[in-house]
Amino acid sequence: MMRLPVGLQSLVIQFAAVLLTAPLSPLLHILFSYQAALWQLALAQGTIAALLSMLWRQPAWWPPLHFGFLPAVLLARQMSLPAWVYLAAFLLLVLFYWSTFRTRVPLYLSDRKAWQGLIPLLPETQSFRFIDLGSGLGGVPFYLEPRFPQGRLYGTEIAPAPWFISRLRAGLKRSRVTFMRRDYATLDLADFDVVFAFLSPAAMPGLWQQAQTQMRSGSLFISLSFDVNARQPDQVVKLAEGARHTLYAWRM
Ligand SMILES: C[S@@+](CC[C@H](N)C(=O)[O-])C[C@H]1O[C@@H](n2cnc3c(N)ncnc32)[C@H](O)[C@@H]1O
Repeated sequence: MMRLPVGLQSLVIQFAAVLLTAPLSPLLHILFSYQAALWQLALAQGTIAALLSMLWRQPAWWPPLHFGFLPAVLLARQMSLPAWVYLAAFLLLVLFYWSTFRTRVPLYLSDRKAWQGLIPLLPETQSFRFIDLGSGLGGVPFYLEPRFPQGRLYGTEIAPAPWFISRLRAGLKRSRVTFMRRDYATLDLADFDVVFAFLSPAAMPGLWQQAQTQMRSGSLFISLSFDVNARQPDQVVKLAEGARHTLYAWRM
């Protein structure tokens, strides 16, 4: 099967489902003199789209999204919201999710349990440089800062809104954490002793390649939730049930 990015696959699926649903209304009319309502056609389109999504083996959360998409559009139309509401919602989403379409890494936040799990992995006394690749709202470095006063902590974030919020939080907390608005792919990971990432399975092969090429020998690469196939981790820390709570660490 063709390997399109999942966003493009979804566009193809939605259009294909519209095309497949289009003859349904005249067919029902001719065969049974039945006039299908718009919401019924939207549900039929959603069902076809969900089936196509399963056939294309998209991740498990896509079929329900496909099923609900057109019905949700119809519902929103019925609410007769002013056009600027859609524009504002779109802009807000762009500012938070930015290039998720390309990176396939959405914003979702790790929690305290994961942050606590990082503590024993970090150097107790000697100074070190730590970076969170894709730092979101800055939760990870903010949590570590008071616990590792000898550490120099960084975050890099590609999406403008989370980056701006983390800068704002740093200002309000008088924090020394440095937040950059940069794609981590443009950084040199040799500048850091500990590189932490909580990204997505799609990002891991490229990031592992970058880490292997750039990170200094003896430095530490930690991934929350997402393993890499290329090398067994040196340490696996299971913090709680569920994949979101496993830390994988590699000594480079
Ligand atoms: C799953 S969130 C993790 C947020 C934060 N590290 C945490 O643990 O709460 C991943 C973040 O990485 C950002 N991101 C994705 N690709 C990136 C890239 N190439 N460079 C910098 N940030 C990126 C996304 O915008 C998103 O905010």
